[in-house]
Parts: sequence; structure tokens; C-alpha cells
Amino acid sequence: MQQVPFLDLGRQYETIKQDVHAEWDAVIAQTAFAGGPFVTRFEQQFASYCGSAFAAGVNTGTSALHLAMLALGIGPGDEVILPANTFIATAWGISYCGATPVFVDCNEYHNIDVDAARAAITSRTRAIAGVHLYGQPCDLNALRKLATDENLLLIEDAAQAHGALYHGQKVGSIGDIAAFSFYPGKNLGAYGEGGGITTDRKDWIDHIYRLRNHGADQRYYHDELGYNMRMDGLQAAVLEVKLRHLDRWNDGRRHVAGRYLNEIRNDRISLPKVLEDTVPVWHLFVIQTDQRDELMKHLGSHGVQSALHYPVPCHLQKAYAGLGYQEGGLPRSEHLATTCVSLPIFAELRDDEIDRVIDAVNSYNG
Ligand SMILES: Cc1ncc(COP(=O)(O)O)c(C=O)c1O
Repeated sequence: MQQVPFLDLGRQYETIKQDVHAEWDAVIAQTAFAGGPFVTRFEQQFASYCGSAFAAGVNTGTSALHLAMLALGIGPGDEVILPANTFIATAWGISYCGATPVFVDCNEYHNIDVDAARAAITSRTRAIAGVHLYGQPCDLNALRKLATDENLLLIEDAAQAHGALYHGQKVGSIGDIAAFSFYPGKNLGAYGEGGGITTDRKDWIDHIYRLRNHGADQRYYHDELGYNMRMDGLQAAVLEVKLRHLDRWNDGRRHVAGRYLNEIRNDRISLPKVLEDTVPVWHLFVIQTDQRDELMKHLGSHGVQSALHYPVPCHLQKAYAGLGYQEGGLPRSEHLATTCVSLPIFAELRDDEIDRVIDAVNSYNG
């Protein structure tokens, strides 16, 4: 039996192969490998796509978060509030700066609970990092109000949400600064590692351009402690080609999600909810069920691949044991971690494959 793949990047590659290779030839001909004109061009296009004044291309989404925090001046002694149910890299960016991540619970949309964030504010809190998890925008207006009231900075982790809309506006252009990942499996993914930062603040982006380039504005003159976090020219070239197709691919994901939402009917399964006045981009389609190992086995026996995002919430990861969080402390995130199952979703998933996923989920009876 042919498997329904969780994600098949090869199908997308077939549709853009010629354009990618033509761009790569140009990068190689110009030996524009580390940073350079292709990166600058992609940055301009990505900033304009997001509706931000500036963008910086970097080597990973994790670096994007790290550099965004540094640009905001976050450092030792500071606290940054973030949801516990995110990919761990949201927290790494905070820890790398010497600040402390303060994990809070999520709401029914699997995004940061703004009341919980308010309750976690202390005199050390400098910023809130909202994550648009699974491609669903978090409640940016509520976060913005909280940040303004409390004089905090607002960071968007948009690693999973390229092109998603919040009240008609692209995510990544609403917070003070935003970080994106271009990891291959993301909605906009490179053919290797990649990350990006968007902001309207020229001083912050200039600082990021310097930090990612060994702390130098001018070669071999290092004005501050820097990093080698430049984006590769070859990755920028792929991303530029792919950006032209992103909206159509996101529409394809919405088609898959729409079918799942309309046609999955099973009392044992909870479907994801969409926050009002948002247009998600469905990086992941995460359902919940009490016996999720059984469901995954059932899907596997019907030839449907599935995955877990994420099996352990950040506050219970061993790396953060020193922060003293206990099991039971953030119940919604912990419940999500034990009940979540991600179904196949990508633009090229065929309708006959979507039928098979729906049939397999609907025939699950515990
Ligand atoms: C929510 C979130 N934040 C940050 C990252 C880190 O991005 P990267 O893997 O490109 O370092 C990812 C992706 O892996 C992510 O999903």
C-alpha cells in the first residue's frame, strides 16, 4: 500500500526545479555564497511580502530569535514571557542572551494565553514572545495592549506562519520584531538551513546586520562581539523562487485543512479551532485524542503517516529543569503534549490522499 506521506518536499521541487537551478547557476557564477546580493534581494522581497520596512536573512530561525533578542537589548537579569507549547528554539533565543524564559500556558487555540502572560509579569520582565504555533496567528492585539500597558517589547515567533493574516495584516509586521525559520519543512523552506528577521526599526536591523557578520560593518573591523550567522546565497536564491509561490501553496494547505475540518467526524477526536479574524497558513494540522498512540498505530496501519508536535512542553524539558517547573503547573500545554497528533498537510497533497486520511481518522474507534 502506498503511504500517504506526512510531508513530501520532492513534489514541490518538481514544480520549481528549473527556476531554482537557473538561480543557483547565477549565484555560483557570481560566487555570491555567504551573504551578498542574492541575500539582499531576498531580504527586500521578504520585507515587502510581510509588510515590514526591513528584513535580515540569517543562517537559522534559532539565530533569528537570538539576534532579535540581542537587538532588543535583552540580557542577563531580564525575563521574557513565552508559551510553554512551542518548539524549544523560542526559549533558546532568550537563554542565549543570558535572560530567563518564563513559560506560560496556552489557550484553546494552542497559542499563548494572554491572561497567563499578564499574571507572569514581574519587575524583571522585558518582553513577551508570542508564537504563531502551527501557522495560527496568536492574539496580537491583546498582546500588543498588554505590552503597551506594561511597557514591554513584543516579539513574534513567526517560524511556522509565513503569510498568515491577523486582522488582515501579515504576521511578522505587527510586533516590534519578528523571527522566521526557513528550515526545509516550513511553509517557506530553504534547501538547507535559513532564518529571517523583520522589523520597522532601522537601528535594530542595522545592529542585526552587524551582529550576524562577526560584529563588523567593515571587513576585519569588529566593533562588538559578533557571530557568523549570515544567510547563504544559494539559500536566498531558493527562497526568492519559492516566495513567488508561497500564497498559492498556503491556499493549498488551507484546502487540505478545510477538508479535514469539514469531513473529519469522530467523537474521539478534537479538531483545531481558528481564532476570529485570522487566516492561518496551517503549517501543521494538529488534532487531539486521549489515546494518541493507538490513533497513530491505527493511522499507520491504514498507510497514513503522522507526527508529534511536541511530545514534551518546554517547561518540562531537562534542559530547563533548573528553572524549577513542576508537572501539573501548565495543564493545557501538558495536556496538548500528551494528546496531539499531526496529520499530513502540504500543498501538493492530492484529494485521494486527503480522502484516505479522513477515512482513516473517521474509522478510528479507540
Ligand atoms: C516555533 C519555532 N520557533 C523557532 C524555530 C527554529 O527555527 P530553525 O529550525 O530554523 O532554527 C522553529 C523551527 O524549527 C519553530 O518551529
